[in-house]
Amino acid sequence: MHVRSSPTDIPWKMWSHPIYTKVGSSSCAGKPSWERSFPRSTHLAEFADLGHKLFRTTPETYPIVFVPGDAFDPKHLEVVQPFTAADAPSGPAPDLRSLTSLNPLRGRVSAIHASSFFHLFGEEKQLYLARALAGLLSPEPGSMIFGMQIGVAEKGFTALGMGGDHRLFCHSPESWVQVWDGLVFEKGAVVVQAKLVQVERKHFEGGGAPAQRVSVLVWSVTRS
Ligand SMILES: C[S@@+](CC[C@H](N)C(=O)[O-])C[C@H]1O[C@@H](n2cnc3c(N)ncnc32)[C@H](O)[C@@H]1O
Repeated sequence: MHVRSSPTDIPWKMWSHPIYTKVGSSSCAGKPSWERSFPRSTHLAEFADLGHKLFRTTPETYPIVFVPGDAFDPKHLEVVQPFTAADAPSGPAPDLRSLTSLNPLRGRVSAIHASSFFHLFGEEKQLYLARALAGLLSPEPGSMIFGMQIGVAEKGFTALGMGGDHRLFCHSPESWVQVWDGLVFEKGAVVVQAKLVQVERKHFEGGGAPAQRVSVLVWSVTRS
């Protein structure tokens, strides 16, 4: 099974003016166990500049904005019912440069990327977060939410994750499919793909990680 789990896998040409949102991407400053991989001095704007150089874009031709906020704060990202073709947002999308929260993007986003994010939270918060992201997704067929996180064969807590003694609540491919297809979206409204892959921990956490393999759930949720 091929699961679209990286932005390079996304069929961008399918949309005329796609909006892409990456969630859980701010600096990890203040989370000591992850300082190795995310130095405090990292400025997201520098990544944007590098991206423009690499892809020969400009802030005008390819606006990139950073919208800081707590994904669990409704003033930043409120849970709303996923949009359908019948109640698709109309009119032009908001000017990305004017955003002070993610809420104006409700029903507007073509692709949402959540990498190494869900496993930071317990089971209930993961469901809440999934519902919150679903409210941002455009109802257009093919729109998708995708990502990866630590995963397990049977859903539950695992000590396998990052940062030594931490126990993480992790989904299995089966339980993750059930979350999206039925609990978040109406059953059958999305195609969910999820599989476990074994990766070297250093590819997940950075160069200083011990030589060890971790089980990663890679997944995508695509509007039918
Ligand atoms: C392990 S890092 C993953 C970074 C990046 N997505 C990646 O794949 O490399 C987790 C990220 O989640 C962010 N984060 C943690 N809790 C958050 C919250 N409640 N709202 C928004 N972001 C949060 C942290 O700031 C951090 O950038």
